[in-house]
Amino acid sequence: MLEQHYYDKADEVIASHGSGHASLIPIIQDIQSEYRYLPPELLSYVADKLGITEAKAYSVATFYENFSFEPKGKYVIKVCDGTACHVRKSIPILERLYSELGLSKEKVTTDDMLFTLETVSCLGACGLAPVLTVNDKVYPAMTPDAAAELIHELRGA
Ligand code: FES
Repeated sequence: MLEQHYYDKADEVIASHGSGHASLIPIIQDIQSEYRYLPPELLSYVADKLGITEAKAYSVATFYENFSFEPKGKYVIKVCDGTACHVRKSIPILERLYSELGLSKEKVTTDDMLFTLETVSCLGACGLAPVLTVNDKVYPAMTPDAAAELIHELRGA
């Protein structure tokens, strides 16, 4: 069970978009941008308020890959491992970040909730490969050292 203020926030977001079925996606997008993830309890809550079955709301949220049911860190780092980035050595960057952050493929968020590390298949900036993003800010032509330096900067920020 979430604290009451989560539900109050959901009510506010629902009020701003209206409670028609078509509001489901904009509402859950706003909730996700507020909390950096979509708490499953709020998905059920919103579905109920909109008169949509929980199963339907869940299938919509899982269809769109950018919804996450897991809490994410303050900084969400996405390392591109699409073809262009891969051939320009994105994997050593990813491995360096895993070791800097004490993370792995199975554990993607640091315990202090500062960093989440993910991979993506193309960020659409192949000319700048290898690329990573931090909360949607693009960092081009990365190296393992530059990535480690970036972590230090963000920790100090
Ligand atoms: S492959 Fe990395 S941005 Fe396209």
